Amino acid sequence: MNMILSPLTNDTTHDNWSRWLLSLRHGNDRSYDDRIRVEITRDVDRVLDFVGLAPGMTLADIGSGDGLVGLRAIERSGASLRVLMTDISAPLLRHAEAIAKTLGVSEQCSYLHYSAEKLEGIADATIDAATMRAALAYVEDKPAAMRELYRILKPGGRFAIAEPILRDEAFEVCMLRKLVDQGSIATDDPFFALLLRCRAAQYPDTEEKARLLPITNYGERDLVRYAIDAGFTDIHLELHIDVQTENSLPWETFLRTSPHPLAPPLADILDKQFTREERAYLECRMRELFESGKQLGAARVAFLTAKKP
Ligand SMILES: C[S@@+](CC[C@H](N)C(=O)[O-])C[C@H]1O[C@@H](n2cnc3c(N)ncnc32)[C@H](O)[C@@H]1O
Repeated sequence: MNMILSPLTNDTTHDNWSRWLLSLRHGNDRSYDDRIRVEITRDVDRVLDFVGLAPGMTLADIGSGDGLVGLRAIERSGASLRVLMTDISAPLLRHAEAIAKTLGVSEQCSYLHYSAEKLEGIADATIDAATMRAALAYVEDKPAAMRELYRILKPGGRFAIAEPILRDEAFEVCMLRKLVDQGSIATDDPFFALLLRCRAAQYPDTEEKARLLPITNYGERDLVRYAIDAGFTDIHLELHIDVQTENSLPWETFLRTSPHPLAPPLADILDKQFTREERAYLECRMRELFESGKQLGAARVAFLTAKKP
């Protein structure tokens, strides 16, 4: 049975980042949250393998969220690892600290409230290894964040990131917009026009909007370029693309989820942006497709590792 976690969406002690990570990512469904965490931990382990932690090192995890990467690093490397968790979300830093206390490892951790573009509280060349997972994607000035990683690392220090590549999702919505606007889709079936309005609430529907949004204005090759420009060497990038059917969730859970922290959940879009008749028709068609087992979803993750010479 799926356990429903208490929703955080009206809790003023949270911000959009914490609401997404602690609620909307999994639609308040604990068993789905557990599944997501198992999948993410595989990516986290790849990132930690890349940086090669050793006893006594200091790791900086930038955009640390609820502490998943830092706490996993401590689990793997033991009591002599020191972890700096930095994030723009104060509620998430507090949440990470509470988890670290529960695990009895808070003494090893520091919690720093900084944007990745300006890690003012971390002195030059003081960090042995740095990581980012699904965090650089949200940073407005990615080259500046890469320069900060370079600045804080000791010579010979390594960094590794695992970042979603979401611009293909935006291109799909842009393509749907073009087809609908050009009238290339049968006008007696309103499905695609309604679907476009729904998808456009979660992803940019024009190339110009995609260029302006941090999550869609870069690809994996841009990450390599930012690393080169920041001065890194030994740069290696792997792009993982996994395409799977998307029918393993209850529809009600899927309705409560949103695909990334900048997007509203599907249920909110259907409630607020459609008439009752439009919603009934669109939801019925979307649900039919979702539950058919034929709908494919793609996850694209870029793993990049590099060394400060
Ligand atoms: C998808 S969550 C990932 C959290 C964590 N890295 C993980 O692997 O679970 C994105 C995180 O990036 C943080 N974030 C967004 N913009 C940021 C910025 N400019 N600087 C630092 N952190 C940022 C958010 O607050 C959030 O914690």
